[in-house]
Amino acid sequence: MLRLSGVTVVRGGAPILDEVDWRVREGERWVVLGPNGAGKTTMLQVAGAQLHPTRGTAEILGETLGAVDVFELRPRIGLASAALASRLPADERVRDVVLTASYAVVGRWREAYDPVDETRAQALLSAMGAAHLVDRRFGTLSEGERKRVQIARALMSDPELMLLDEPAAGLDLGGREELVRRLAALAADPGAPALVLVTHHVEEVPPGFTHAVLLRGGRVVTAGPVDEVLTAEPLSDAFGLRLRVDHADGRWSARAAG
Ligand SMILES: Nc1ncnc2c1ncn2[C@@H]1O[C@H](COP(=O)(O)OP(=O)(O)OP(=O)(O)O)[C@@H](O)[C@H]1O
Ligand SMILES: [Mg+2]
Repeated sequence: MLRLSGVTVVRGGAPILDEVDWRVREGERWVVLGPNGAGKTTMLQVAGAQLHPTRGTAEILGETLGAVDVFELRPRIGLASAALASRLPADERVRDVVLTASYAVVGRWREAYDPVDETRAQALLSAMGAAHLVDRRFGTLSEGERKRVQIARALMSDPELMLLDEPAAGLDLGGREELVRRLAALAADPGAPALVLVTHHVEEVPPGFTHAVLLRGGRVVTAGPVDEVLTAEPLSDAFGLRLRVDHADGRWSARAAG
């Protein structure tokens, strides 16, 4: 699905991603954790064919970035991020926000959609608990409603790879728990795409996620199965403070130790 080899991204003369090796296989569900500025969004932009590495290679869905038409690759990847949300026109109807994803474009420019697409958009909005928002303008939605519409949008093109950058940011406790539940359902669906979820909080890791990668200062601290990575030692290393980590009923929690 995805293989980054020695991926380095240099900005302002310094590496913000530094020799990153990371591999995502079919069926895997990954969580990306790390402190502010660790390079999570940058890594996701490379994985989403939105950004070319300064050095190293990114193989995405069997294609090598730099040797493929990104406009053909991008519709195969579902991406939801704050940066993308801010590019969605505020006056766009929710229906169209979801529909335009079939063409990986922002803003409705094709007037004629296939009725099959319309039905699919409705079904995805329903699955995300957002069916009632279909006629609303995107700019009028609450933060939590926007996140759910964005995930429906990211699923619209039936992607092989789905990248979610902090989908729970800005949600209240109920909204977070509902999103975690929906992402757990997605993770459990064998027909769902390979999933990558960026978060700051282990509490937001949905049950059923299989792997985790921890970043710090543009480098991979640890990567592997969740049971090994979401433990006190690697998380303390990544966040730079001594943490106590608990795991119960498929959910994690973390707090400063002592
Ligand atoms: N164009 C740029 N020029 C200089 N520095 C940049 C540029 N773009 C990103 N950075 C820096 O790269 C680092 C990594 O950014 P990135 O957005 O990937 O972090 P992140 O892990 O997603 O952080 P957060 O948790 O706050 O979202 C940050 O320190 C950021 O300031
Ligand atoms: Mg970020």
